Amino acid sequence: MKKEYYEKIIEELIKLIDEGVYIVDKNGIGRFYNDTMASMEKVNVEDVLDKKFHEAFPEVRKNDSTMLKALLKGEPTVRKQQTYKNFYGKEITTVNSTIPIVVEGQTVAAIEVAKDITDIRRMSDTLLELQKEQNKRKTATQSASPAGTVIKKYTFDDIFGENEDFEVALNRARKAAENDASVFIYGETGTGKELFAQSIHYCGKRKDKPFLAQNCAAIPESLLEGILFGTSRGSFTGAVDREGLFEQANGGTLLLDEISAMPYDLQSKLLRVLQEDYIRRVGGTRDIPVNVRIIATVNEPPEDLIAQGKLRKDLFYRLNVINIQIPALRERPDDIPLLAERLLEKYNKKFEKEIWMLSEGAVKKLKNYDYPGNVRELENIIEQAVSMGDNEHVLTEKNLAMPTAARKGRIPAPEYEKSIPLDKYMDELEAKIIKSALIEAGGNISRAAEQLQIKRQTLQHKLKRYNLTEK
Ligand SMILES: Nc1ncnc2c1ncn2[C@@H]1O[C@H](COP(=O)(O)OP(=O)(O)OP(=O)(O)O)[C@@H](O)[C@H]1O
Ligand SMILES: [Mg+2]
Repeated sequence: MKKEYYEKIIEELIKLIDEGVYIVDKNGIGRFYNDTMASMEKVNVEDVLDKKFHEAFPEVRKNDSTMLKALLKGEPTVRKQQTYKNFYGKEITTVNSTIPIVVEGQTVAAIEVAKDITDIRRMSDTLLELQKEQNKRKTATQSASPAGTVIKKYTFDDIFGENEDFEVALNRARKAAENDASVFIYGETGTGKELFAQSIHYCGKRKDKPFLAQNCAAIPESLLEGILFGTSRGSFTGAVDREGLFEQANGGTLLLDEISAMPYDLQSKLLRVLQEDYIRRVGGTRDIPVNVRIIATVNEPPEDLIAQGKLRKDLFYRLNVINIQIPALRERPDDIPLLAERLLEKYNKKFEKEIWMLSEGAVKKLKNYDYPGNVRELENIIEQAVSMGDNEHVLTEKNLAMPTAARKGRIPAPEYEKSIPLDKYMDELEAKIIKSALIEAGGNISRAAEQLQIKRQTLQHKLKRYNLTEK
């Protein structure tokens, strides 16, 4: 491809993507500025294009400008969250990255990419408020306990299981309740990680302090830091500071679920917090001392997560003072009858039924299933059976609605062309799947990425890798 085409390509590219893009040349003159950026910053494209940076944005102080930092000092800024008021006084929050383009040691341009996360930011603020409210109510319930406001708190009495490996896990958790070290729990979904974490907290000496939980995969990456450590807005916006979960959980326990979903750089910040025992709010300058016990969980083997670069080794070692591995239910089928009986009692009470026992056939049927959803799935099966059950005192196999054979069986392996190496075959397969997702999404990359449940950038990398970008 001819070099002259590049300019046109960049122009089309930045029109196409839904992030704001601003590119200045080495003299700070705006060369590219797309509509997305213009509508975010509420300026006209013409007022920025071919204008010097400080003419276009006279109100930005030189020291604050990430663009000038990139251009003059060659320093990149990566994924920085900024909250500011735009031209119309509307408060917007963006995540910006600004990088210098260096050719043969000279900075020849700087690129800024910005994503508007105002809506997500608002959502996270609401979430924090709600969590705080709930926490307040929870603490009130613990002392006053007015009728009807019971919030489920688990203790070791709620955990059933006598399998040998399960007992090892349980004993470690009991030990953990006696001391104050960090805990790292690995177990598939539904194996009882939350149950263990709560039991450790509520049976330990922090029990009168808050227990808070956050699933790291449930929050957009760019907001997690603010949720955990709080935010401090510049005083110019007139807005108040907001405390994060670490401050809210002070003196108590914070359960960090799916810690491997936490962005890598945030993992190192977390490590620092754990070593130094203070936090700093996002955008803040003050160090705030905190005393929070961390219980972290993952649902894949930690060594795999480390190998895949999803979990920092140093953070893992810091958290893994007490290591608990909860075996999957299919690895301890001997616990199935016991669990089923205890769950039967639990749901008899709930639905005011008198189902005294399980028939032999029912037990056999329960044991003959592999439970990808583990105890949670078994619990659902029993709950459904009890709630639907008639006035019989024995629960039989016909009361048990097990997931169908199709679900039980794993996804069938695709035909494998044995004449080619597996990795090449996997690449071909991946390329095919991506291609069909793209077609289905009408060529819309964001939508295809959503459908494939991968990040858009990841999909873009793959498109490049498999040469799927050109028609
Ligand atoms: N050993 C057990 N005894 C009794 N109930 C259990 C046990 N293990 C799990 N459960 C029940 O299964 C359900 C799921 O447990 P929990 O939420 O602790 O799982 P989890 O490992 O945190 O799952 P996820 O990874 O999906 O968050 C809960 O209703 C819990 O009461
Ligand atoms: Mg959980």
